[in-house]
Amino acid sequence: MEKYSAIILAGGKGTRMKSEKPKVLFELLSKPLIDWVITALKESGADGFCTVVGYKREQVREHLSGQCEFAVQEEQLGTGHAVMMARDFLKKHLNESVAILSGDVPLITSDTLKSAHERHKSAGADATIITARMKNPFGYGRIARDSAGRVEKIVEQRDATEEQKKIDEINTGTYFFKADALLRALDGLKTDNAQNEYYLTDAVSIIRDRGGVVETYEVDDITEMTGINDRAQLYDVSLMAKERIYTALMKSGVTIMDKSSTVISPDAEIAPDTVIMPSTVIKGKTKIGRGCVIGPNAVLENVTLGEGVTFNASQAYDSVIGNNVKVGPFSHIRPGCDIADDCKVGAYVEIKKTKFGRGTKAPHLSYIGDAELGSGVNFACGCITVNYDGKNKHRTVIKDKAFIGCNVNLVAPVTVEEGAYIAAGSTITDTVPRRALAIARARQSVKPGWRDRSKLEK
Ligand code: UD1
Ligand code: CA
Repeated sequence: MEKYSAIILAGGKGTRMKSEKPKVLFELLSKPLIDWVITALKESGADGFCTVVGYKREQVREHLSGQCEFAVQEEQLGTGHAVMMARDFLKKHLNESVAILSGDVPLITSDTLKSAHERHKSAGADATIITARMKNPFGYGRIARDSAGRVEKIVEQRDATEEQKKIDEINTGTYFFKADALLRALDGLKTDNAQNEYYLTDAVSIIRDRGGVVETYEVDDITEMTGINDRAQLYDVSLMAKERIYTALMKSGVTIMDKSSTVISPDAEIAPDTVIMPSTVIKGKTKIGRGCVIGPNAVLENVTLGEGVTFNASQAYDSVIGNNVKVGPFSHIRPGCDIADDCKVGAYVEIKKTKFGRGTKAPHLSYIGDAELGSGVNFACGCITVNYDGKNKHRTVIKDKAFIGCNVNLVAPVTVEEGAYIAAGSTITDTVPRRALAIARARQSVKPGWRDRSKLEK
């Protein structure tokens, strides 16, 4: 795989999104648009890139921090102007190929980028335009060729003659350039066009007029090149993305019961014989093993699940869940949990930064935070860890085979040793020794006949 560098244009305002959020951060199947582009870049050999930011740039910078360089475009004076802002980046990559992409064209594939780059290199081109044939090319820049079929220039819709408007070969807005050729061409850009903008597309004719080689690479699947300008297009593209990702999952042996209500990130991995029930949202780098049943109504984000897990109407984030674990219904597994094999996180259980050893069960109505439970622990109904004193969080440690009866408060920091037994309704503040019984509640007192003497009723 040949290496190259890239510039992502993401300075535009995205006016039609009508949002406070920059367009490239809108999510498509739970993954921000620009991250789709970055994934395709990385998978196709890009080893350094610069993002041109403008509108709401702090949000974009924060999202991408540490991943790339940035160039700032204060005013949106056109695609050519955006690339001018990345001159310093181009100077650092003078002898390389540099790709130019838009941050709002998420479905471009690494295969297309790889093939286009190969064509660019093998043709010894100074510029390679990724093009497509469109039945309705309205709005796009058209590829104007000379009588020998060589690219002459790209003509924008608003600058095109009637004859040029009939051309069905369009500029997808994605290119490879020799960095030095692009740098020199940028100096020649002018704003003498219908939109008074610096068009990046003019760099192509400048390169050609100076004797450079201009090549094209035509994509077959134009869905790859669909840009997003408003929320309706975002929805349409999400259907295309579902077709691509869900079809591949189904072919690999995953059952998806309802495509329309299901959101699965392109970065998720799901093993065969797993069933995804309706209204399930699988985000981030979630990994699901074989033979699981997920949903209905489940949310998983950056979670690793083993095999044979049932995960019913619950949510889990940034956690690891072992084999044959039963979760839900209505459980909330917050970040930092590590649940071993054969455990149960039952109905209405919330856990956070907590470890369960093998076969440990919290079957109903519990809160467990900042805790380490050994194996074979029974954490009965209504038990909670009292982990927060109003200022600091404290840890609870429960060793193997301990039995925590119903409605117990464990006031942390506290340790329950191996095999200890805690009576229902206890509030535990001190260590419970190995295999001991702890009862920490007021004794029941009984007043015989009290109801007869009570003034509360006749
Ligand atoms: C551009 C191409 C057109 C092509 C089309 C494909 C030009 C002049 N035209 O047109 O030939 O068919 O893409 O979709 O390049 N941007 C900035 N700063 C700016 C302007 C744009 O960062 O000042 C970014 C936008 O955020 C966007 C990308 O550049 O990501 C493309 O800009 P856009 O305005 O959508 O270009 P088009 O007019 O669609
Ligand atoms: Ca556009």
